Amino acid sequence: MTADLRPMIASDKWQVLEWRNRDHVRSNMYSDRVISRDTHDAWFDAALKDPARLYWIIRYDGTDVGVTNLDDIDPVSKTCDFAIYIGNDGLTGKGIGSAVERAVITHVFGAMNFERLGCEVLCINVIAINVHRKFGFVETTLLPGRAPRADGALDAVRLELNRENCSFVPPTARAFRS
Ligand SMILES: CC(C)(COP(=O)(O)OP(=O)(O)OC[C@H]1O[C@@H](n2cnc3c(N)ncnc32)[C@H](O)[C@@H]1OP(=O)(O)O)[C@@H](O)C(=O)NCCC(=O)NCCS
Repeated sequence: MTADLRPMIASDKWQVLEWRNRDHVRSNMYSDRVISRDTHDAWFDAALKDPARLYWIIRYDGTDVGVTNLDDIDPVSKTCDFAIYIGNDGLTGKGIGSAVERAVITHVFGAMNFERLGCEVLCINVIAINVHRKFGFVETTLLPGRAPRADGALDAVRLELNRENCSFVPPTARAFRS
């Protein structure tokens, strides 16, 4: 199994909408509403242009299977957040998310030379929380009622990983710090 990342480009627009609207993805997002083509069209174009965000397509054995991204990229504080989703429910639980998370952490603390990586996850999303914990993320903040739902709002939790708590920071990045 190989999972790798390539930059998201304009021609990915409609595949990304299809993934984002699938039940297993929507149900784990802050908004679980089906996103219209017009809303997605505007969001996608803005996302590609925004210097505070970076998007990659996840590839599994050479096939596009999902999206990962950085947002709130702040070069001054050297902090950002990230998210991952695998568009095909049948491909979850196979280690792809873990491979992607390792690649994102390596990029953020290595090539970008940042200090802290954060993410926010619904408390019901035990799989995602487990993956983040495995890489050393710790829960920092409970976000009560963060995700509106038809039958009541769901809580979320913020998790963070500081560079000094990451066991696989590339040696070059460590040398760069001192
Ligand atoms: C969250 C997500 C990115 C994780 O990626 P993944 O490829 O499914 O995860 P992995 O296979 O790498 O790892 C899953 C881990 O959770 C564990 N796990 C699997 N099913 C589980 C369950 N029902 N309960 C608890 N843990 C579970 C696995 O054992 C594995 O841990 P391990 O490596 O220690 O064995 C993916 O499931 C996904 O895209 N989900 C839908 C969208 C989403 O929730 N995105 C995250 C919010 S931004």
